[in-house]
Amino acid sequence: MIHVSKLTKYYGDYPAVQDVSFNVPAGQVVGFLGPNGAGKSTTMRILAGYLTATSGTATIAGLDVFWNSVEVRRKIGYMPESCPLYKEMRVNEYLNFRAGIKGIHGSERRRRMHYVIERCWLDNVDHQIIGTLSKGYRQRVGLADALLANPPVLILDEPTAGLDPAQIRSTRTLIRELGQQHTILLSTHILSEVEAACDNVIIIHRGRVAVSCSLDELKGRASSQAQIVMTVGGLADPNVFRQVPGVNHLQIAEGVRGEGYELRITTSDPAEIAPRLSACAAQNEWRLMELRIERPTLEDLFVQITQDEAIPV
Ligand SMILES: Nc1ncnc2c1ncn2[C@@H]1O[C@H](COP(=O)(O)OP(=O)(O)OP(=O)(O)O)[C@@H](O)[C@H]1O
Ligand SMILES: [Mg+2]
Repeated sequence: MIHVSKLTKYYGDYPAVQDVSFNVPAGQVVGFLGPNGAGKSTTMRILAGYLTATSGTATIAGLDVFWNSVEVRRKIGYMPESCPLYKEMRVNEYLNFRAGIKGIHGSERRRRMHYVIERCWLDNVDHQIIGTLSKGYRQRVGLADALLANPPVLILDEPTAGLDPAQIRSTRTLIRELGQQHTILLSTHILSEVEAACDNVIIIHRGRVAVSCSLDELKGRASSQAQIVMTVGGLADPNVFRQVPGVNHLQIAEGVRGEGYELRITTSDPAEIAPRLSACAAQNEWRLMELRIERPTLEDLFVQITQDEAIPV
């Protein structure tokens, strides 16, 4: 549905986006991640037709975002990271005005306005002047605007930024529900949001795609980096644990307070190896003080990927 090929954007001589290619299949929710300044908003603005690329192409529903920008805008609901709302208008006036621009008329307009005001939790503020709304409520107006024309594709640039924890949770549920009917490209810094709502993940780092894979593949990558952490007390040689079948790597450190050792064991199957390690401890008269499996979280993985040079999955 969204097809991006070798997209590059220079601001002056600064390359904000470099050779970025990815696909968002119809009906999927794709998390678009990356550290501050990675190029997410730049890419999204190009897709939404608000910025032209220096080179490369992007199509939405088969339409080139540059050559067919008017038709593309009819297919998408774009929520920019700071919503350009008319501050002197009331919420309902603004949405009414936006509906007019989007070509929604008559009873359909009433129906859609009622729907988005309800879905985006704006019922209590629909007569309020936008300039007097708090940041989180302005975000909701931006989301309501993106949903107004019921477009097949939603491009949402950090929709939960500025929301309170309860609203973050509600918005996450809303995005998951919207994902049943819409194709969604969603940028966010909240990894639990990605876990809850996304099918696929694209991570960009310094303007380039570092990872593009399914959420399950990314989680698989996290669990493949699991380690067993074992604390043992005793006087024997801790290198004995290297002999346990399945141990790929053993790192030995002194235990806290100088008691025994803390062993970090890398293995492809921690659940299978853990009982072997505890049996080995018993046979060699080690006191087993602790044994736990540590799996990196998505957040750990994200930090790792965006610190390293790009490593494709
Ligand atoms: N209009 C502009 N002129 C010059 N440089 C710009 C402009 N807009 C963005 N940049 C630069 O391009 C890079 C990418 O910015 P972009 O806003 O796309 O990042 P982002 O991934 O959305 O970051 P964030 O997570 O902070 O929103 C940054 O280094 C930014 O400073
Ligand atoms: Mg941004």
